Amino acid sequence: MKKITFVGGGSMAEALISGILENEFVSRKNVWVTNHSNQERLESLKDRYSINGSYNLNELFEGTDIVILAMKPKDASAAIDKIRAYLTEEMLVVSVLAGVSINTIEMLSGKQLAIARAMPNTSAAVGKSATAIAVNDRVTENQLEMVRKLFETVGLATFVEEGQLDAVTGLSGSGPAYIYYLIEAMENSAVEIGLEKQIAQELIVQTLIGAAEMVKNSSKPPEQLRREVTSPGGTTEAGMRILEESGVKQAFISCIKTASAQSKKMGDALCSQLKVH
Ligand SMILES: NC(=O)c1ccc[n+]([C@@H]2O[C@H](COP(=O)([O-])OP(=O)(O)OC[C@H]3O[C@@H](n4cnc5c(N)ncnc54)[C@H](OP(=O)(O)O)[C@@H]3O)[C@@H](O)[C@H]2O)c1
Repeated sequence: MKKITFVGGGSMAEALISGILENEFVSRKNVWVTNHSNQERLESLKDRYSINGSYNLNELFEGTDIVILAMKPKDASAAIDKIRAYLTEEMLVVSVLAGVSINTIEMLSGKQLAIARAMPNTSAAVGKSATAIAVNDRVTENQLEMVRKLFETVGLATFVEEGQLDAVTGLSGSGPAYIYYLIEAMENSAVEIGLEKQIAQELIVQTLIGAAEMVKNSSKPPEQLRREVTSPGGTTEAGMRILEESGVKQAFISCIKTASAQSKKMGDALCSQLKVH
């Protein structure tokens, strides 16, 4: 039976803990978590999920198969420094730290480790994350399967080259915020055209879910699906004309490109900072 140790017990760790327990990826007694110093939080995680919490590094790491690095990127150096002696070549180290490269983790650990770097998004909290994972060449076939299954407990998981993770960050990492923004705009308009906010929100959310399911399940590309609901001279066409004239599609493209570029810029700066430490 696999043992998993979380280093960091914040919101991303909790989403993963909840997902792996719900999906019986490991048993509760094989999940261990530690944090920096917030004992109250550690106790509450232990109680809520009936898992193990500890500050004793021996018991945390003894026989562990998967170590999950789930602290803020700025704390990576101190955290890895603390646990370095307990990391072994047999373990799979999984990092969810935004912007921290596999090479930086290798340098900070000073060891030849099997490392997987994942970019989940906040929807992990409801089991609907879109997670992209990159690995180094020390990750075995077994570990590859293990890490895919691990992230599938909180949604979809797919493998990419590490160089593509900035694009992933701009697209699906920040993606939930773009969709919330769209919902905000739809809610505002709904109130202006006379709908109650509560009813409008239900209609908007269901519309998004329905459209997403259509794209997922249909063999037709989204452009064709859109054209099929846009009859000449109709209401959709009248509305779409405004979006076209306002350059909304181009704005989304620029938004995602800019977010990806920012991810690369911040990641590069962070990694040089961490390596200097
Ligand atoms: N939240 C998301 O949706 C999301 C999405 C993608 C990626 N991520 C990544 O996930 C990571 C965690 O984010 P989060 O939102 O879960 O952060 P968070 O809620 O702030 O939690 C951070 C955790 O790390 C612990 N920690 C700090 N220094 C430590 C150390 N030296 N040793 C052990 N534990 C230490 C903290 O412990 P104390 O409380 O005791 O200080 C806390 O439990 C980040 O690197 C972020 O980039 C998050």
